[in-house]
Amino acid sequence: MLDCRLGAVVRLITAFVIFTGIAVAQTAQRPWMDKSNSPEQRAALLVRRMTLDEKITMMHGVEPIPIKGYVGYVPPITRLGIPALTEADGRAGVGNDATGVTLLPAPIAAASSWDPGLLYMFGRVLGEEEWKKGTNVALSPSIDVVRVPEWGRTFESYGEDPYFNGQMAQSEIRGIQSQGPIANANMYVTMNQESNRFEEDSIVDERTLHEIYLAPFAAAVEKGNVGTVMCAYVKTNSVFSCESSDVLTEMLRKDLHFDGFVMSDWGATHSTVDAVENGLNQEMPGDKYFGAALKAAVEAGRVSQSTIDERVEQILVPMFRQGLFDKANTGSWSADVRTPEHTSFSLRAAEEGTVLLKNENKLLPLAKSVSIAVIGEAGGDKPKAEGSGSSGVKPPYIVSPVDALRKVAAAGASITFSDGSDIAAAEETARKATVAIVFVHTDETEGHDRPNLMLPGHQDAMIEAVANANLKTIVVLDTGGPVLMPWVDKVAGILEAWYPGQEDGNAIAAILYGDVNPSAKLPLTFPRSATAIPTASQQQWPGIDGRSVYAEKLNVGYRWYDATNTQPLFPFGFGLSYTSFRLGDMKVSPGRVQAGASFRNVVVRVNVTNTGKRAGAEVVQVYVEQPAANGEPPHQLHAFSKVELRPGETKPVVLNLDQLSFSIYDADAHQWKTPAGTYQILVGTSSRDLPLHGDVTISR
Ligand code: BGC
Repeated sequence: MLDCRLGAVVRLITAFVIFTGIAVAQTAQRPWMDKSNSPEQRAALLVRRMTLDEKITMMHGVEPIPIKGYVGYVPPITRLGIPALTEADGRAGVGNDATGVTLLPAPIAAASSWDPGLLYMFGRVLGEEEWKKGTNVALSPSIDVVRVPEWGRTFESYGEDPYFNGQMAQSEIRGIQSQGPIANANMYVTMNQESNRFEEDSIVDERTLHEIYLAPFAAAVEKGNVGTVMCAYVKTNSVFSCESSDVLTEMLRKDLHFDGFVMSDWGATHSTVDAVENGLNQEMPGDKYFGAALKAAVEAGRVSQSTIDERVEQILVPMFRQGLFDKANTGSWSADVRTPEHTSFSLRAAEEGTVLLKNENKLLPLAKSVSIAVIGEAGGDKPKAEGSGSSGVKPPYIVSPVDALRKVAAAGASITFSDGSDIAAAEETARKATVAIVFVHTDETEGHDRPNLMLPGHQDAMIEAVANANLKTIVVLDTGGPVLMPWVDKVAGILEAWYPGQEDGNAIAAILYGDVNPSAKLPLTFPRSATAIPTASQQQWPGIDGRSVYAEKLNVGYRWYDATNTQPLFPFGFGLSYTSFRLGDMKVSPGRVQAGASFRNVVVRVNVTNTGKRAGAEVVQVYVEQPAANGEPPHQLHAFSKVELRPGETKPVVLNLDQLSFSIYDADAHQWKTPAGTYQILVGTSSRDLPLHGDVTISR
């Protein structure tokens, strides 16, 4: 018996010695496989062994892609054990015509939850499905600040505030990267319109660039630890993003300390030497500039070997950091990667992203016994669940609102439907029901801005007609961005459901019937008129002679409405609930802080009480008003926190303001500074409802 055990132990030890021997031999041959070294050390060791051809192979995609799926592909280098890069789209689910994937709500909807934890989960779901599809670089998220309300890709991003976008970006990135793939912060930078997008020149001053447009990328890099960045199609201050030393070297590498790799947007590379010298690592999707042309430039001495080494190391670092060399991705493009958890997350995200904008006489939530007329094609068999373009996802199904309402309504409650193509028929249907719910939508897409902010077609007329026929009319907006509402005073209720993903109808039914209490807030301003917006002049958008001048400077989104005393239709941060809340007992401490290395966060404490009869969640928002001498917009968001409360319950909420909250970018010195002075702290539940005030004095 003892002998037998001894034998087993000996065999085990021998196996261990052989295995370790092989591993040691392997790491002796391939020292970059030694995991005890840092990603930077491993990348440096590997680059030393690579030939020029191998290095160049890593610096561009190949077309056509030799395997099924993906939109970008860099082949493996088997001699050195370098895995292929498999890059796939997916802002709201795996894209590029993948099947067997979950369609999530549009990112603008998820962001409307004002819950970074939900964005982390959003990233996890997306990252897990991408990884199981074999993707190791997920081309997500899109984090540009929404400057122009007509921007055709508003739905792919988070909103109009740089701090807010930064919070959402870092959370989603951490979620994606926790599941295997390297995430990709896009589109860098000043990608704020689709009109003329391949040549558009964004003319923007340095201070605005840093404080507004760079800020989400700073959070993505510094807090999200994102592995890759996609440079945009547009020019920033007359230089294409993908070959600009200001954009790629000065801002991204030097200011933000980004140590991963920059890939070009598809077809956004315009040169060989300028692009590689100024910081582009990888041309996508092909090799026009970074294939033979790059090799020739190196051989002719126009690009140095050390530049190539640096660019390749920057590609390898996030690959090592993300473990791509140490764990094989066994996923496959043909796999069905959905799970019940992902389905329920898609539903939860849609519910938590739906913003209640109006609820006259507490018409909502509806009793399950009322008779309802559902009007509009998006309420029936043409649900508007996602936007179009490269972010498109093949949904496994979409739950139509009318089907979901019929399922949840009490037995005998009549739910009728009219697609709205015939306004007289829609009116008739609405008149016969107790409540009319009109579903309207916009068709937003990459490649085109909306021509204006009106609902397309005859939808405004349809709403007016239905509202005239039935006083209890509720409008559900399936839009990717803000729309004008000439009928706003005529309807009793308005919900902004955005593009809600595959669970569309289930989410909307849960909100309408009150099974879920809405808690979302607008991540961007809804204007009252087409002219009362920050970018109303043609010079600003779409630009004149290819130049879009960012003349509004720091006054982007709500900052402009506040600076110009313009009344929005619905302000940034606004959203109603079926219950009510009270904020009080605000304390700001300490009252005095020293700027610089010894800066300590300013802590804001507020008590929030649910004063209504239903459980619900409120978002406490903290805005900072800088001293007038700083030349900043009236007040700016610098902290927020969502809190869930039972009826009657009070909870303390603690929020932190870091040094950036009290800083401005000094364009003369090319750096941030924290001017001394007294800063007002404004707390409330939207950018236009800030009843609690405190202050803090910053000294130097
Ligand atoms: C889009 C990117 C996308 C890429 C690949 C480009 O046109 O701007 O967002 O990742 O195509 O599909």
